Amino acid sequence: MTNVSEETRFLHAVEMGLGAMQWGDRAVWQYGHGYGVEDVRQAFDVSIDEGIRFVDTAELYGNGLSERLLGRFIKETDQPVLIATKFFPWPWRFTKGALPRALKGSLARLGVDSVDLYQVHWPSLTMSTDLLMDGLAECVKSGMARAVGASNFGHARMVAAYSALARNGIQLASNQVHYSLLNRTIEKRGVLARCKELGVRLIAYCPLERGLLAGKYNAENMPSGSRAQKYKELIPKIQPLLRLMTEIGQDHGGKSCAQVALNWVICKGAMPIPGAKNSAQAQQNAGALGWRLTDEQVARLDFASHAIMEPTMTAH
Ligand SMILES: NC(=O)c1ccc[n+]([C@@H]2O[C@H](COP(=O)([O-])OP(=O)(O)OC[C@H]3O[C@@H](n4cnc5c(N)ncnc54)[C@H](OP(=O)(O)O)[C@@H]3O)[C@@H](O)[C@H]2O)c1
Repeated sequence: MTNVSEETRFLHAVEMGLGAMQWGDRAVWQYGHGYGVEDVRQAFDVSIDEGIRFVDTAELYGNGLSERLLGRFIKETDQPVLIATKFFPWPWRFTKGALPRALKGSLARLGVDSVDLYQVHWPSLTMSTDLLMDGLAECVKSGMARAVGASNFGHARMVAAYSALARNGIQLASNQVHYSLLNRTIEKRGVLARCKELGVRLIAYCPLERGLLAGKYNAENMPSGSRAQKYKELIPKIQPLLRLMTEIGQDHGGKSCAQVALNWVICKGAMPIPGAKNSAQAQQNAGALGWRLTDEQVARLDFASHAIMEPTMTAH
């Protein structure tokens, strides 16, 4: 990979990570109702045992609790863990100094001196892309971040971020965006292709489409909370895709729908970071590694997902 800098190469070696948004998040994931600290600790332990070495958190998750929990868990393992966290661009943060200041808070909650990846969570309303990247560059230069990335940056903004960091002699290491069999916007808009060209690692969030692609939800068993409203129309439509995923999983010795969904993301050249609330989910998700869908299976999954998301274009 000639277009990947020495400093960001480690990220391209990570096939899959673990998302820690669920750890402490009451609003979306109802932390404290049905699962708690012991469950997420086991999700972490199982993932580490299975060789997953990259955990994605954010200062926003659980209002800092996700970072605190991760800090506790990494102290209790003897395995090396790559830590990725994020700066949230609150509108009252409008100077480049806000980034190293916020990172110091994250480091204190995590109990470490530096993180492997520091990401801007969303574009800012009050700071230009140049200013945000100057702030990220300070985080690298001060030694608090090994590499830096963006999140939820569209094509033009990502290229601008890449150029702004390059002026500081730093490579944009990653762009973390929504990507799953049920959300392929970044393929359509050329973000994935551009990432590959630039040597930027595309990190795929919601790779299970918030649990829908695990196959457990249907019209009779809808998810609770905000997901119920968001997905009420989509869930009844995805059953043909889930049937195909089950069939393809069987061709690989009984892989589950979740494992097929994650393997599909890996086959596309992106790094999925599925969120896990407990050991069973983490265990199952880890089974997405160590095998590969065939090109023909990827193409069949592409077609089936397209038929759901763009039905008029695939109708015969
Ligand atoms: N940068 C951003 O703006 C952004 C946005 C969102 C997420 N993220 C990151 O991406 C990570 C992943 O996204 P996400 O957690 O929102 O969505 P996701 O990974 O698509 O879905 C995670 C949810 O699916 C269910 N699940 C996971 N594994 C399962 C399994 N094997 N079997 C059955 N159900 C399973 C669980 O919820 P239930 O059991 O309740 O169904 C779990 O909370 C987050 O943790 C976070 O680190 C980043």
